[in-house]
Amino acid sequence: MKLLAENVFRPAAFPEHTYVSRKSTDIGIEINYELRLRQALKISGCLTSIVGPSKMGKSVLCERVVDFEHLVEVSGADFTNYLDFWQIIGAKAGLPLSGQFSQEQQFGEERQQKTENFMLHKDRVIAYFKEHNKVLVLDDFHSAPEDSQLYIAQQLKDAIRRDFKAIVISLPHRADDAIRKNADLQGRLSLINIQPWQLQELEEIARLGFEKLGIPIDEVLIERIAVESLTSPQLMQYICLSICTLLDADEKELKKIPEQVLETAFKFTTMNFEYRDVVKVLKDGPSTRGRERKQFQVKDGHVDLYTLIIQAIAIDPPLMGMTIDELKQRIDSFITAGPKPDKKAIRDAIAKLQLIIDERENIYKVFEWKDQTLYILDPIFLFYLRWGSH
Ligand SMILES: Nc1ncnc2c1ncn2[C@@H]1O[C@H](COP(=O)(O)OP(=O)(O)OP(=O)(O)O)[C@@H](O)[C@H]1O
Ligand SMILES: [Mg+2]
Repeated sequence: MKLLAENVFRPAAFPEHTYVSRKSTDIGIEINYELRLRQALKISGCLTSIVGPSKMGKSVLCERVVDFEHLVEVSGADFTNYLDFWQIIGAKAGLPLSGQFSQEQQFGEERQQKTENFMLHKDRVIAYFKEHNKVLVLDDFHSAPEDSQLYIAQQLKDAIRRDFKAIVISLPHRADDAIRKNADLQGRLSLINIQPWQLQELEEIARLGFEKLGIPIDEVLIERIAVESLTSPQLMQYICLSICTLLDADEKELKKIPEQVLETAFKFTTMNFEYRDVVKVLKDGPSTRGRERKQFQVKDGHVDLYTLIIQAIAIDPPLMGMTIDELKQRIDSFITAGPKPDKKAIRDAIAKLQLIIDERENIYKVFEWKDQTLYILDPIFLFYLRWGSH
């Protein structure tokens, strides 16, 4: 039976047909992430902590290594009230929250059927997990309320000693404290850091997928899609799916992928993302309190420094990190006449933008200014900046 594009390229689900196995390099040797996770789960008494940027394949990795039948997934966001930690986990594993059990007991000469009520509690959940080889995946741990994080860590510490298997997933910098910096857990952690994707790893997704669909695609095009995907396997999956949709790949017998479809596919893909307001907030910059902001002359008019910075981030080649020199060069390239902003002005403006985004919701936290370099934290934001209409 012919595979459908939507089953091959799966930007928001487990990619069965386009799964790419990657090698981790952060420990000085090249070793598959799957092998590391499998090994970590074998060490009894240890808690596995997976940390990595958003949408880099943390959940997918767990789903690959722990088969569906043994996987019990809960999210940090499920724990609004720390009191019911074990009840929530037990319920996810399919255990009844409360009930009755009957036991025959000998009373003197008589045997009696005794029925007791029970509430689901920690010991029973741990015993059930061990008996059925279940593995707890506690996803998005950072989204659990801060005061419950420590409590959960404490509960897990006790449970892993009793052979309870658990993986805790979180974003970098966010949950280090409760798990990775928890003195009680030192020596009891298996650490796995998920790195951003390399170009060749992203390319593999397209190669695998188009081959399964029987559509020939030029290597040059694969590379262009990977460059635009900016370290994100999810973007790679989205763009490939957009290409298939635009070319009606499920209905037609395609002999090749035409180069012109790429830009349309990039733009088409941005409809899945909503950063219009983020871009506006950044371009507006801090409040001017009624004062005129300095304007710079560009090809089609005048713009202020904040707009220049955003435009500079967006141009070719897409980069996830830009030094102040690179930024200055990019900004200068827009200015057609008159003065150019100096590095200090650029630095100050970025610092102000940083303050603005620090105070807002997570979606606004798209970059970080550190060590004289502007780091893009969210590849999808940069993709939107390049191809979206804003
Ligand atoms: N190994 C892989 N091979 C191919 N595609 C992948 C792989 N890992 C992830 N992807 C793609 O990226 C998408 C996002 O992956 P996943 O949901 O695992 O990220 P995550 O790190 O758990 O993100 P979040 O931090 O939002 O929970 C997947 O739905 C899939 O399309
Ligand atoms: Mg996830």
